[in-house]
Amino acid sequence: MGPKALEVVIARRELVAPEHVELYFSHPALKEAVPGQFAHIATVGTLRRPISFSRIGEAGEAAVLFRVVGRGTAWLAERREGEVLDLLAPLGRGYPPPDPGRPWCLVGGGVGIPPLYAALGKWGRGMQSMATVILGARTAAAVLMADDFRALGVEPTITTDDGSLGERGTVLGPLRRWWQTHPEGQVYACGPTPMLAAIARLKSPGGRLYLGMEQRMGCGVGACLACVVPAAGAAMPPWRRVCSDGPVFAAEELRLD
Ligand SMILES: Cc1cc2nc3c(=O)[nH]c(=O)nc-3n(C[C@H](O)[C@H](O)[C@H](O)COP(=O)(O)OP(=O)(O)OC[C@H]3O[C@@H](n4cnc5c(N)ncnc54)[C@H](O)[C@@H]3O)c2cc1C
Ligand code: FES
Repeated sequence: MGPKALEVVIARRELVAPEHVELYFSHPALKEAVPGQFAHIATVGTLRRPISFSRIGEAGEAAVLFRVVGRGTAWLAERREGEVLDLLAPLGRGYPPPDPGRPWCLVGGGVGIPPLYAALGKWGRGMQSMATVILGARTAAAVLMADDFRALGVEPTITTDDGSLGERGTVLGPLRRWWQTHPEGQVYACGPTPMLAAIARLKSPGGRLYLGMEQRMGCGVGACLACVVPAAGAAMPPWRRVCSDGPVFAAEELRLD
């Protein structure tokens, strides 16, 4: 089943960190949502804003967690419980279910963390002992969802650029160590493109790597080509649409440098 135009009522609003808001809602059509997929949300102006699902429940419960960066997200952050949101959802291609036989590492930077929490929430039961979570942020206050990951039974490894929480530096340090001890492992990553490009360079040849891309978007459904990124090798067409071919790609599909 494809994406639908949905009207959802905000059931809960939470300020989860300075300038970071999570909105909860539910709709039967969201039962089909896959971690890594997104909602294209009407805010101000004509362009919708894409936000990944941070939570996906079996009965269609869902949430989005976003950082206020401009006009659209500022409008969204002002919404209150009981108000209605206009969504196109679920959109795009999400993460594949993890291979239960391989160690699994989820690596998120900033607002790339929420879709990985949705993935562990959906697929993590019984895989806690196989799962490693690495969360990176600029500073302690921007480390998102650490307690949510703990509640699923996985203690996250945290890195901050300024050293205010966890290891000083980026997610690359702990991830490099993880690849060394788990060369056949599977990594699900999401975050800013420079972080994903660096992660792709670290990939061990026997491992699997899936990247959740964030890109400026227009239509959100594959028609306008506002969101294209270069494809790897001699693929035709030489680009991929983040909104409809992604936002999740196997690392081999893209040319990130
Ligand atoms: C598939 C997908 C999933 C996303 N999931 C999330 C999420 O879970 N949480 C979240 O906080 N954000 C997420 N984003 C980013 C989010 O869509 C943008 O932050 C939002 O559209 C900005 O709208 P605005 O009107 O507030 O800002 P604008 O006024 O449009 O822009 C403000 C500033 O943010 C930058 N910006 C805007 N859009 C993006 C973007 N897509 N990527 C990088 N920089 C951008 C602009 O260059 C500008 O500097 C996602 C983006 C995509 C494509
Ligand atoms: S946003 Fe229009 S094709 Fe991707």
